Amino acid sequence: MYKIKLKEIKDSDFTLIVQSEGKEIGHLVFTVNVFDNKTAIITDLEVRPKYQRRGIGKALVEEAIRRIKKFTNIKRILIEDGSGTGATSQIALKLGFNLDSAKSRGLVLPL
Ligand SMILES: CC(C)(COP(=O)(O)OP(=O)(O)OC[C@H]1O[C@@H](n2cnc3c(N)ncnc32)[C@H](O)[C@@H]1OP(=O)(O)O)[C@@H](O)C(=O)NCCC(=O)NCCS
Repeated sequence: MYKIKLKEIKDSDFTLIVQSEGKEIGHLVFTVNVFDNKTAIITDLEVRPKYQRRGIGKALVEEAIRRIKKFTNIKRILIEDGSGTGATSQIALKLGFNLDSAKSRGLVLPL
C-alpha cells in the first residue's frame, strides 16, 4: 500500500510524494501558470526501481492531472519524457496526452 502527499514549494510549484510505510518511494513535480498562465508542466517523475511497474508512476500522473484541473485557468498540461526508456510517454499516452507538435520531446493534454 502507498499514499500520495502534496507539498507546495512556491506559489506555483508542487511536489507529489509517494510514501510506502513512511518511506518516500517516488515523486513528481508540477508547475502551474507557466508561459501564458494557461499551461501546467509535469516534470521529475520518478519511482524507485524496486517499486516500478506497479502502476505508481501512472497513479502519480493521474493525481497531478486531478490537482491541476482545480486551477480553472489552466487549459493544457505538458509532460516531458527525459527517461530514455519512453516510460513517461507510455504513461502519458494511456492518460490521453498527445504528441505535442510544438515541442519535440513532449506530450500535451488539452483540458
Ligand atoms: C518513468 C517511471 C516513473 C515510471 O514509473 P512506474 O511506477 O514504473 O510506472 P507504471 O508502473 O505506472 O507504468 C505504467 C506504464 O508505463 C510503461 N513503462 C513503465 N516502465 C517502463 C519501462 N522501463 N520501459 C518501457 N515502458 C515502461 C508501461 O507501459 C507501463 O504499463 P505496464 O506496466 O502495464 O506495461 C519510472 O520508470 C522511473 O522512475 N524511471 C526513472 C526516472 C526517469 O527516467 N524519470 C523520467 C525523467 S524525469
